[in-house]
Amino acid sequence: MRRLWDILAIVGVLVVLAGSVPATLAATHTYNITKILADHPEFSTFNHYLSATRLAGEINRRRTITVLAVDNSAMAPLLAKHLTLESLRNVLRLHILADYYGAKKLHQLTGGSAVASSMFQATGDAPGTSGYVNITDHRAGKVTFIAQDAGDSTAPASFVKSVKEMPYDLSVIEINAVLTSPEAEAPVPPPAPVNLTDLMSKKGCKAFADLLLADPDVEKTFDATVDGGLTVFCPGDAAVKAFMPKFKNLTAEGKASLLLYHGVPVYYSIQMLKSNNGAVNTLATDGTSKSFNYTVQNDGEVVTLKTKIVTATIKSTIIDQDPVAVFVVDKVLEPRELFKVAVDVSAPAPAPVAKKHKTAKGTASPPAPAGPEEAPADEKASDNAARRSGGKWVVAAVATVAAVAAVGVY
Ligand SMILES: *[C@@H]1O[C@H](CO)[C@@H](O)[C@H](O)[C@H]1NC(C)=O
Ligand SMILES: *[C@@H]1O[C@H](CO)[C@@H](O)[C@H](O)[C@H]1NC(C)=O
Ligand SMILES: *[C@@H]1O[C@H](CO)[C@@H](O)[C@H](O)[C@H]1NC(C)=O
Ligand SMILES: *[C@@H]1O[C@H](CO)[C@@H](O)[C@H](O)[C@H]1NC(C)=O
Ligand SMILES: *[C@@H]1O[C@H](CO)[C@@H](O)[C@H](O)[C@H]1NC(C)=O
Repeated sequence: MRRLWDILAIVGVLVVLAGSVPATLAATHTYNITKILADHPEFSTFNHYLSATRLAGEINRRRTITVLAVDNSAMAPLLAKHLTLESLRNVLRLHILADYYGAKKLHQLTGGSAVASSMFQATGDAPGTSGYVNITDHRAGKVTFIAQDAGDSTAPASFVKSVKEMPYDLSVIEINAVLTSPEAEAPVPPPAPVNLTDLMSKKGCKAFADLLLADPDVEKTFDATVDGGLTVFCPGDAAVKAFMPKFKNLTAEGKASLLLYHGVPVYYSIQMLKSNNGAVNTLATDGTSKSFNYTVQNDGEVVTLKTKIVTATIKSTIIDQDPVAVFVVDKVLEPRELFKVAVDVSAPAPAPVAKKHKTAKGTASPPAPAGPEEAPADEKASDNAARRSGGKWVVAAVATVAAVAAVGVY
């Protein structure tokens, strides 16, 4: 085990030193379950409900999982029960196993059986053993699945075929019937409506909440995103106060972008943030240029957000309840699209080994030993951005310059 961690640590260091392009949060992310299933129209209902219940996003963010898909006719009896979306979600969670089971492994189970924990179990909503799935490898090659608390009248579902195997990240298996249990189908109280600005005001982000309330369009954007998943990093009152002179200097559009920059249209629990590093897009991100992003980076229990301008640290949690999380951060997040890059003297200097500074035009200067210094490319970028009144419409050319400049910093 020790050795494995050592190797992982070395690999991690090499990746960082190589100055690689930042990965999307959920590091090695390479799959999209919606797309995978879209190639198989017989799973369109199952696929539809993975999206409707927001489980598709969770699947894409996880590694080492198995999805037990059922075809449209097998979905029919489940839909006939007219469960609420929240209960349906729990039933579907039974179909997402927290381990990798390819066809081969299923047909070679040690001792002929296994107990797999499902995403239902992982939510903590599943009482007792109801979140576990029994897998049995019978003689003659038949493999069956049943929710551990399924009840006596329930027949197990059988393995039909392997749909997609990406060892050892994702396996998609077809089974011939849905897995369910009374616990999974139990009514789930609908989540209490969340008033973001109210919550923030009461828990240390009043100044930020007031800025949101002062711009109804922006506030609406935050509110409208909650249902589909939202993570807000709200700067604490002291941070906002210190930032106000700079905020007042922004155009109306720049102000809106700055506020939207603090919202990420995906629900990230603190656990997810602590276990994944990578770039995230924000409510201010322009769809085509993918601008207005930052990097989530954790160091043990500490989670930081790195824009090219500042590094903020998560200080506390206001709410962390799927589909919405609000975390207090110690700095206002300044996007490079609106502010000039100054080298952060408090940041540890990158190790000299294997660090290549490209000399092509437009690249950043090496990190300065001390004192704030502006990287010419980014200055140009932010000036351009400012001239376009700092909004979401930073043109591709500017984004390119900024991206090239970024290479030297990573
Ligand atoms: C996944 O694929 C679907 C269908 O192709 C697409 O609509 C969706 O935007 C994709 N999701 C991501 C996160 O790329
Ligand atoms: C699942 O397996 C456990 C232990 O292996 C067993 O006690 C339980 O009865 C099984 N449940 C079903 C529904 O087969
Ligand atoms: C949240 O509460 C504030 C008052 O604190 C109110 O102005 C705002 O409209 C509320 N937002 C929603 C979405 O209800
Ligand atoms: C506001 O903008 C002016 C003009 O660009 C600049 O001189 C000043 O330093 C800015 N103030 C702050 C606090 O950024
Ligand atoms: C982050 O934004 C920059 C523009 O500011 C863009 O060039 C880059 O591709 C974006 N990164 C990601 C991972 O979307």
